[in-house]
Amino acid sequence: MHKITTRTLRKMKQEGERFACLTAYDASFARSQEAAGVEVILVGDSLGMVVKGQESTLSVTMQEMIYHTHNVSRVCHRALIMADLPFAADASQEEAYLNSARLIAEGGAHMVKIEGGAMMLDTIRFLSERGIAVCSHLGLLPQSVYKMGGYRIQGRNREEAEQILSDAIALEQAGADIILLECVPSELAAQVTEAIDIPVIGIGAGPECDAQVLVCYDMLGLHHGNPPSFVKNFLAETSSIQQAFKNYVHQVKTGEFPTPDHVFD
Ligand code: KIV
Repeated sequence: MHKITTRTLRKMKQEGERFACLTAYDASFARSQEAAGVEVILVGDSLGMVVKGQESTLSVTMQEMIYHTHNVSRVCHRALIMADLPFAADASQEEAYLNSARLIAEGGAHMVKIEGGAMMLDTIRFLSERGIAVCSHLGLLPQSVYKMGGYRIQGRNREEAEQILSDAIALEQAGADIILLECVPSELAAQVTEAIDIPVIGIGAGPECDAQVLVCYDMLGLHHGNPPSFVKNFLAETSSIQQAFKNYVHQVKTGEFPTPDHVFD
């Protein structure tokens, strides 16, 4: 069993092979996802909403991120474990470095995810030069929900779309290893995916990305209120969670998911 690394994911992109990512916050879900073939497990700060029951991700602390990341990483042997730097944990380059180091050393993460484009370039360069693998999160930034005025699709007008595209190119040059694009039109996601050599993971970003991610509770139909339109309930087609994860991996790899029902134009 080969461990998934940043090199594996880059090679998969070069060879046109899609990979699957899901969020997990505990050992049981992580074990089941890894057994289903999920290549990247994201310990997302979405845990603020789906585990803690808050209305946003903003209350999540470093201690909580380390706790959940450790519960995931201790049972995984193949998947690459990505963990979110929570709100304000990247307030300076030094804090971003020290908090990333904690997620890796205490939590067992292999990569950290940081929200933000141009304004985070120096931080991404600082971390990358010091040997930290980074995923840059663009498009809808849940940690900026109050500034953005809600959870809304991003990049719909020309100016925003050009900014997202140029941010992705600049972040790759600064040393980012992955770009995650959340809630952007599929045409823009396709342009970003084409423009850079590092893999692009999409959520609500259409079928042309190199990989897809969903919040695991959402794709099992466990959503408080109406789920976002880009979510598919994979448990509705089968009777076991394990099979739902397997079907997700299969449908991401074959390009069956996302369908036109799950994309923004
Ligand atoms: O925190 C999270 O789960 C995320 C996904 C929505 C991509 O960032």
